[in-house]
Amino acid sequence: MLLLLLFATLHYAPSFNVALGVAGENPFTPKAYLIRYWNKQISNNFPKPSFLFDKASPLTAAQSAAFYKLAATDRNSLSANLSDFCNKANLLCFPDLSPSLEKHNDNVNFTSYLLDGQNFTNYGTGRLGGADSFKNYSDGGNVVTNNFRRYSRNSTAHTDKFAAYATDTNVPDESFKGYGTTAAAGDGQFTSYNDESNVPNLNFAAYSDNSNGRKQTFAEYAGNANHGDQKFTSYGKNGNGAANGFTNYGKGSNVMASSFENYGETANGGHHTFTSYGDDTNVPENTFRNYGPEENGAVVSFKSYRNDSNTGQDNFQSYGKKSNAAELGFENYGQSFNDGSSKFTGYGEHAMGQAVDFKVYGQGTTFKQYAKKGVTFASYTNESSPAVVASLAARGKKVNKWVVEPGKFFRESMLKSGIVMPMPDIRDKLPKRSFLPRAIISKLPFSTSKIREMEKIFHAGQDSSMANILTNTLNECERKPSPHETKRCVASIEDMIDFSTSVLGRNVVVHTTENTRGSNGNITIGKVKGVNGGKVTKSVSCHQSLFPYMLYYCHSVPKVRVYEAVILDPKSRAKINNGVAICHLDTSSWSPGHGAFIALGSGPGKIEVCHWIFENDMTWTIAD
Ligand SMILES: *[C@@H]1O[C@H](CO)[C@@H](O)[C@H](O)[C@H]1NC(C)=O
Ligand SMILES: *[C@@H]1O[C@H](CO)[C@@H](O)[C@H](O)[C@H]1NC(C)=O
Ligand SMILES: *[C@@H]1O[C@H](CO)[C@@H](O)[C@H](O)[C@H]1NC(C)=O
Ligand SMILES: *[C@@H]1O[C@H](CO)[C@@H](O)[C@H](O)[C@H]1NC(C)=O
Ligand SMILES: *[C@@H]1O[C@H](CO)[C@@H](O)[C@H](O)[C@H]1NC(C)=O
Ligand SMILES: *[C@@H]1O[C@H](CO)[C@@H](O)[C@H](O)[C@H]1NC(C)=O
Ligand SMILES: *[C@@H]1O[C@H](CO)[C@@H](O)[C@H](O)[C@H]1NC(C)=O
Ligand SMILES: *[C@@H]1O[C@H](CO)[C@@H](O)[C@H](O)[C@H]1NC(C)=O
Repeated sequence: MLLLLLFATLHYAPSFNVALGVAGENPFTPKAYLIRYWNKQISNNFPKPSFLFDKASPLTAAQSAAFYKLAATDRNSLSANLSDFCNKANLLCFPDLSPSLEKHNDNVNFTSYLLDGQNFTNYGTGRLGGADSFKNYSDGGNVVTNNFRRYSRNSTAHTDKFAAYATDTNVPDESFKGYGTTAAAGDGQFTSYNDESNVPNLNFAAYSDNSNGRKQTFAEYAGNANHGDQKFTSYGKNGNGAANGFTNYGKGSNVMASSFENYGETANGGHHTFTSYGDDTNVPENTFRNYGPEENGAVVSFKSYRNDSNTGQDNFQSYGKKSNAAELGFENYGQSFNDGSSKFTGYGEHAMGQAVDFKVYGQGTTFKQYAKKGVTFASYTNESSPAVVASLAARGKKVNKWVVEPGKFFRESMLKSGIVMPMPDIRDKLPKRSFLPRAIISKLPFSTSKIREMEKIFHAGQDSSMANILTNTLNECERKPSPHETKRCVASIEDMIDFSTSVLGRNVVVHTTENTRGSNGNITIGKVKGVNGGKVTKSVSCHQSLFPYMLYYCHSVPKVRVYEAVILDPKSRAKINNGVAICHLDTSSWSPGHGAFIALGSGPGKIEVCHWIFENDMTWTIAD
């Protein structure tokens, strides 16, 4: 009975019994090696977790040997053969875009870029009048790479409209090099740019530089996006009378880094507005470097800047420096419910006749070097004053719902038959990839000190998504373990076996939530069973990391209880899932700002915190 229950929580393909000796299976494939390794290292005969074995390298014995040879002896050829390697080994790689001078007809309405399969490397140059519109430009794509070079360059009175640009994409890497440069009049509109995207890397270089009286707007820019980077280098430089506006910039996004460099530099009479910049965000990082410097008669206003956000960091360097008769205003700056840090260096310095207004400034007193004259703070919120603490706390409570997804963390007492609770989205949103054979991994560099070599192999250009992906994951892997944590990044199932058995011994079993049903809705808890008799135990949890090949971040933390809970539809009471949850009994080393405490209240060491094991993640325990 016990075994049956246990088996029920894992999903295995019946076809999986391709153990040794089964007819047709070449014993030299990476997968055959893995099966032998598993059988040798793991002392029980429980069925192998098929969701994990599905990620084993699909390379044939011959392909594996050939790529091993390149990795070991000739990395230049490996890099030259990257797309072949990526296709055969099922890795995450971005297509290499080469510039083209492909011609497109004028005044077209593109309904769906991905469907049309167009390649825009030089679009709309020198156009006179007319309008182009893109509806649903690469929406819903996975690993979308777009590269517009010279879009509407030197055009006159031309209108470009992007209705929904890359909405709901996964890991998009998009760059516009030269958008509307030297254009005159006209109108560039993005209604919805990269909203709901996951790990975006967005880059505009030379956006409307040297343009004349052209109006460019973004209505929704990267709203609700998750982790990523946005960068505008040189925005509206030397422009004349340009009106640039962002209505909702990064609203509701999670851990985004945004930077504007040389925004409106030496422009003339520009009018830049951000109606809502980074509002409602979680841990945003915003950098404005040289924003409106030496601009003449510009009006720059932020109506609402980082309102209701959680922590984060802002950095304004040389904001409006040496500008002339500029009007720089923030109506509501950083009224966060959890303070972040703001740094203004050279704000309105040496500017002449400007009015710099903060109607409400809700961040600390970290201003350095700002023009003492002509800068007004209509209402300066001192976040340590008791009244402000109370009001922010009250607002914080309201916003908590948003910052931490409902059901993402819960108390152990919720794991009882009959309890109704929200379930977060447990779907794996990362691109599908496979592990590489362990032998090939052993020949590839993996360390921040070898980042240049890795960038070369995986064609990670400067500031590209791939470069960010490599660096972020390496940093996470090289981070020192927290107190009582044992951690390792594993790039093969064999390494995962080694790490898990080193912590738990050889009689181990893998648990994961059976499917993703119940996500984003309410669920009713059915029968609950504690793993290892419901006693405090040890486990090794492994979470997927984003990397060109499959990589897991595994760690062991002491003092956990692991549960298997039947999940029921709250209305029909039908069984829809078998959930696996882990409860951390010792949270004393967690940070006070941890999402769990934002969601559940309380603080480090005061409560236990439980969460579900998400799709394609897992926890290993000693077998019952
Ligand atoms: C792929 O690698 C082989 C060496 O194994 C090399 O001869 C070949 O030129 C490479 N392909 C490309 C496109 O460079
Ligand atoms: C874009 O066009 C160029 C030349 O026409 C071609 O080499 C390249 O592969 C195309 N890129 C994509 C992503 O289709
Ligand atoms: C594109 O759409 C606009 C407005 O919807 C329409 O006026 C124009 O005629 C269309 N252009 C073409 C080439 O279909
Ligand atoms: C385009 O986007 C709109 C709004 O997001 C959506 O309703 C529509 O179904 C999409 N159309 C296509 C062809 O994807
Ligand atoms: C821009 O357009 C003008 C007028 O059509 C032309 O004289 C000039 O050479 C163009 N410049 C570039 C860089 O294409
Ligand atoms: C800031 O957020 C609060 C709470 O959502 C809202 O009531 C207020 O109107 C916002 N302020 C601005 C200027 O958007
Ligand atoms: C902010 O308020 C605290 C507590 O009332 C006070 O000690 C501190 O001096 C104030 N800081 C400023 C910059 O006004
Ligand atoms: C879940 O239940 C709560 C309380 O009954 C309700 O407010 C909420 O709308 C429900 N959520 C969903 C997604 O049905």
